[in-house]
Amino acid sequence: MLDKVKSLISEIKDTSAKTNEEIEQFRLKFIGRNNIINDLFGEFKSVPADQKRELGPALNQLKVLAAAKLKELSASLNSKDVSSADVDVTLPGIHAMEGSIHPISQTRSRIIEIFERQGFNVEDGPEIDNDWNNFTALNFPENHPAREMQDTYFIEKDPDILLRTHTSNVQTRLMKAKKPPIRSIMPGRVYRNEAISARAHCFFHQVEGLVVGENISFKDLKNTLYHFSKEMFGKDTKIRLRPSYFPFTEPSAEIDISCFICGGSGCKICKQTGWVEIAGSGMVDPNVLENCGIDSTKYSGFAFGMGIERVTMLKYQLDDLRLFSENDIRFLKQF
Ligand code: DAH
Repeated sequence: MLDKVKSLISEIKDTSAKTNEEIEQFRLKFIGRNNIINDLFGEFKSVPADQKRELGPALNQLKVLAAAKLKELSASLNSKDVSSADVDVTLPGIHAMEGSIHPISQTRSRIIEIFERQGFNVEDGPEIDNDWNNFTALNFPENHPAREMQDTYFIEKDPDILLRTHTSNVQTRLMKAKKPPIRSIMPGRVYRNEAISARAHCFFHQVEGLVVGENISFKDLKNTLYHFSKEMFGKDTKIRLRPSYFPFTEPSAEIDISCFICGGSGCKICKQTGWVEIAGSGMVDPNVLENCGIDSTKYSGFAFGMGIERVTMLKYQLDDLRLFSENDIRFLKQF
């Protein structure tokens, strides 16, 4: 029996494996459930005592050796696997494509964040709406040019269903659905039937703001937009209100900010005026409040609307509106 053990020891020492199958054969023979070494331990019990002294250590050596060999065989085969396969582990890896948040989404989030800190909540409304919500309730006279086909995409006639031309349709819906106090901003996409150019597009994005309550004054409008402008464009930003006209506000004002590129001294972005326009605004016309079922003798309000593309273009000094919708990765990955 001792001879058998010795020959197995040298067999194990000489074993090498080129495939996982060969390793498995080795494992079955020396380590597996019915392995040969266990059989020998079985026989060992009936060996005469004088032979046991020499046979015992030899058997143990065999067992330890078999376990060590199995480890060695699988380690060497696995490392060979990598280096001999068709994989060049020294080549640089392939980068997973990284996405990024669209600049319009980034600006929208920033605008929302600034107004939320001033106590505004965010409201949403449909892009397809009826004429009443988009125009009539907002005090647009019947023959107002904005209703004509060249500006508005009509979907159905009688009753008129259209793609909203501004986010002000959400004002209407909100005032009909809720009682004051209202303090909301309404971001969204709007559509106009315009020829596409660097300065105009058939769709773009706006953020509408609406505050309705008791004793809301023009001062509140000014303070709100003043605070917004400083947060958005820097703490040295000044604002200027220019008289304007919108059917749904009276009085109405265009909001300009001091040019944050040249600081007001005049440059290409502000067309040498020192000011850039960022929003339309005004006190909600009492007719609009009444159209939406709000008592205009008790409540007043202000509203504003700004273009998200416009704010983004100013912030990053971009001069072509089309960049936002062309999905050119070279442009998008810069934000
Ligand atoms: N709806 C206007 C537009 O699309 C923007 C606007 C101006 C919204 C004044 C307002 C506002 O709420 O008060 O040009």
